[in-house]
Amino acid sequence: MKEISLKFPKNFFFGAATAAYQIEGAWNEDGKGESIWDAFSHVPGNVDNGDTGDVACDHYHRMKEDVAIMKELHLECYRFSVAWTRIIPDGDGAVNEAGIKFYSDLIDELLKAGIRPLLTLYHWDLPLALQNKGGWLNPESVNWFTRYAEVVFKAYGDRVKDFVTFNEPFVFTDFGYVTGAFPPGIKGDYRSKILAGHHVLQSHGSAVRAFRKIVKDGRIGIVLDYAYNAPATQSEEDVAAAARANEFWAGWYFEPIVFGRYPQTAAKWFRERGQLPPVTEAEMKLIAEPIDFLGINHYFCNYVKADPNNPREGTAPVYPPVQHTLMNWPITEDGFYEMLTYFRKVLKVPLVITENGIALNDIVTVEGTVEDYDRIDYMKRYLSALSRAIEEGLDCRGYCYWSLLDNLEWAAGFKDRFGLVHVDYNTLKRTIKRSGRWYSALIDEKNK
Ligand code: NOJ
Repeated sequence: MKEISLKFPKNFFFGAATAAYQIEGAWNEDGKGESIWDAFSHVPGNVDNGDTGDVACDHYHRMKEDVAIMKELHLECYRFSVAWTRIIPDGDGAVNEAGIKFYSDLIDELLKAGIRPLLTLYHWDLPLALQNKGGWLNPESVNWFTRYAEVVFKAYGDRVKDFVTFNEPFVFTDFGYVTGAFPPGIKGDYRSKILAGHHVLQSHGSAVRAFRKIVKDGRIGIVLDYAYNAPATQSEEDVAAAARANEFWAGWYFEPIVFGRYPQTAAKWFRERGQLPPVTEAEMKLIAEPIDFLGINHYFCNYVKADPNNPREGTAPVYPPVQHTLMNWPITEDGFYEMLTYFRKVLKVPLVITENGIALNDIVTVEGTVEDYDRIDYMKRYLSALSRAIEEGLDCRGYCYWSLLDNLEWAAGFKDRFGLVHVDYNTLKRTIKRSGRWYSALIDEKNK
């Protein structure tokens, strides 16, 4: 690790992120429709410990308290997602005014607190009624999503200026159709994964086009997960192997958005197996519709070396001797820096780190505090890498820590705590952790 330096420009923003299903609860209140995650988590065995988002952090009823906490933390930005099923309960039918009002009130509350809202349209909670019509495998999904996006732009575009279309398309298509850990829970079906992804990417481009007509003074982007594959050594073989691995993973969505084409080696592999549908030029143009910023979620890197025995990527993993988090993710801030350097070279639009964080098993002490020094250490390491990359010329505009609150870590349930704020799931009491206090001091220091 290089020397810790945490210098950020004054106009760089620090925030925290959440997602609707992970914090809101109130899963069937005020006209909300059922989402694929409601249905999935209600099937025993799908989520660890039988946990569900039925109540989660009860943010739906505690929204004002949560914004007050953000204010106390001096946050400059809050990244949240809108539940499609609150806005259009069956996905493509009537608009639910109570759902519109909930986010409208949240936005007003944020603006009153001087916090900039960053709104994500889709953080994995597809209306169940649309899944029953084929979900992202149905080409109509592009129209469903565009209409939903238009409703949201019209309702909030006067006050929200920063929008994200999709969160982590790689994860929800891969886990939905290959590992089966997420709804619709299908395993090993690459063809469906790629088809769903192709519709998601077109939905993104189509929403960007709609946005330009409705919100004239705002910015829109997409959030991609990038678990960067870094070469284990700088040998030509390992460098080429890592680049190939990236094509099959994060690059599958990054390259269409940024370069206007699917990555070539991976596309050839999938095409030869009948897993990549024919792609037209018009579709690629839609997918690569210009965006205003790229959001990146990053938690860890994978190190790889060349290995001809792996017929697909031609790589084998190499495990670095580093600390691991509660979720067994390696802490690899040097790889984060390498990834940022790659972005500095290829990206033509500003970057925002829309998620980065660490899961720990935080407990409240008898004094009522949470002493999460390991989280502070993690943040220092990753923010130092970011600060260095910015000093070297990377155009990165902001950083959102994942997450504001401890919350439902999808199929892993509630045990992995990512928050700056501890949530007691019995009483729903919030406790600001030491890391939250540290973060707010860092924000003050930047603004001095
Ligand atoms: C990715 C997702 O966007 C978020 O929902 C999740 O909780 C975090 N990363 C941690 O896994």
